[in-house]
Amino acid sequence: MMGAHRMDWTLYGEGLQTNAFSTIQNWRFRLENEDLAFSDWEQLGFPAEAVIRLFFNSGKHFGDPALLAELVRIHQGLSAFHAEEESGAYRLTQALMRSFLDKHNQSYDHLTYTAMPIFELFQDHRSFDILLRTQADIVIALICDLIRFELRTLLGEEARMQQHLPAPRKLRQRIYVAIRAIVSCSAFDEHLMLPAHIDHLIGLWQEETRQEDRAISSYLAEETLALTDGIFAQLDPKLGLLMDLSLIPVYVAHDEYLFLRVLQAFEMLFLIVAEGLNECIGLIAAESYSVAAERFHLLNNVLRLSPAIFRILSTMTSATFNGFREYMRGASALQSENYKKIELYAAHPDPGRFRSPSFDSVPRVTREYLQPAFANLQDVVMPLLPGSCPAQDILQPMIAGMQALDSTFVTWKVTHYQIVKAMIGDAPGTSGQTSGTPYLKLMLEMPLFPYLKASLARPAAM
Ligand code: HEM
Repeated sequence: MMGAHRMDWTLYGEGLQTNAFSTIQNWRFRLENEDLAFSDWEQLGFPAEAVIRLFFNSGKHFGDPALLAELVRIHQGLSAFHAEEESGAYRLTQALMRSFLDKHNQSYDHLTYTAMPIFELFQDHRSFDILLRTQADIVIALICDLIRFELRTLLGEEARMQQHLPAPRKLRQRIYVAIRAIVSCSAFDEHLMLPAHIDHLIGLWQEETRQEDRAISSYLAEETLALTDGIFAQLDPKLGLLMDLSLIPVYVAHDEYLFLRVLQAFEMLFLIVAEGLNECIGLIAAESYSVAAERFHLLNNVLRLSPAIFRILSTMTSATFNGFREYMRGASALQSENYKKIELYAAHPDPGRFRSPSFDSVPRVTREYLQPAFANLQDVVMPLLPGSCPAQDILQPMIAGMQALDSTFVTWKVTHYQIVKAMIGDAPGTSGQTSGTPYLKLMLEMPLFPYLKASLARPAAM
């Protein structure tokens, strides 16, 4: 299971479904009947792809009871192993189980829906720079994976999630904006080489968006596949595996693929911003203001990738979104931990916001916040602001960086709000905890660093 290969999802016949089920059953039988040492786990190779193949058949919401029963038994068998001996394959299997069994054991939420426990195993926290590059690469991999899926759909070669198909024109638009998004993201990986003719390719896809339903030329199809293959060949080979293991839909409607990939891409960006802000707390405490200034500008550039990704999401219509929305109920990005970390590292929320469903939905994050030792940017920046500290010139670039990030964050909220409004109008959210758009509207203007605005508006003490 830990290899670098990509699954061939086009092999998707009924025989394969039966084979997939027998593979899982045989595997569970070995687990229960052979006296396995922990070191066997790696070799044993849990057949995750077979499970995912079966979920593609129905979506998790309508998971086959026989499959779920097998998974429950495997999960029980897995728990019998000693936690201290955790290997990579073991942890991956546990993470997969969280997403496979979430609907069954009522632990389903935004994190299990978007397979965040699986992504966590592929993230590299050795330093901020490494995290930045690996996260950017994951975003690029997610977009490439989406392009391949949509291209295969247009070519009639894709068997997964082919219900509630959008108009072919929407899919062409999607590929067009997705390739443009790759170009934007590539700024964060200086090692990544894009083909010299990428602008030409973008131009051809733009042309395609103006066509009605004509077939995609074999030249365009081949060049687009060569683009994504060429990018995957330069990325960490494990990212191919991550792509294969991290799309576990609740239903079989086509656009859920897009929706999941977009949610996952944003989660990757939110993590960069959250970790970057957390680092800035230490930098400012150590009076490294110019390094902090650079970091804020960088984080702003990361968040400025959002329009490129929202453009991909905007190729979904409310009709195709409604093809799967009801099966998502219980999971909402209201439960996004990375997004709430951004807010809490930036400032102390006002009591109204802290008591709102937004923070009620992320108990792990609020627990961290309530620790006595918790400090955030407000704690280290406030004492430096006018009236408290005379050395304003040194601080100016840093404050400018924070203001830029603040404005991009608010723009993110406004764009999100507009998309939500277009998709669901005034219907309540899927979390079951908010009124939907009216709730989001209340939070729209709330800045990331409210103390900055308030303090800079006051004249400095003489
Ligand atoms: C079809 C597209 C989308 C719709 C209809 C939608 C809808 C909503 C709704 C109704 C809420 C309010 C909470 C609730 O009751 O669920 C919400 C919150 C939120 N959404 Fe979305 N959303 C969409 C896309 C996204 C995407 C792609 C992201 C990126 C991760 C995202 C991130 C968030 C976040 C972070 C919140 C919490 C905001 C807060 O706590 O103030 N949403 N969304």
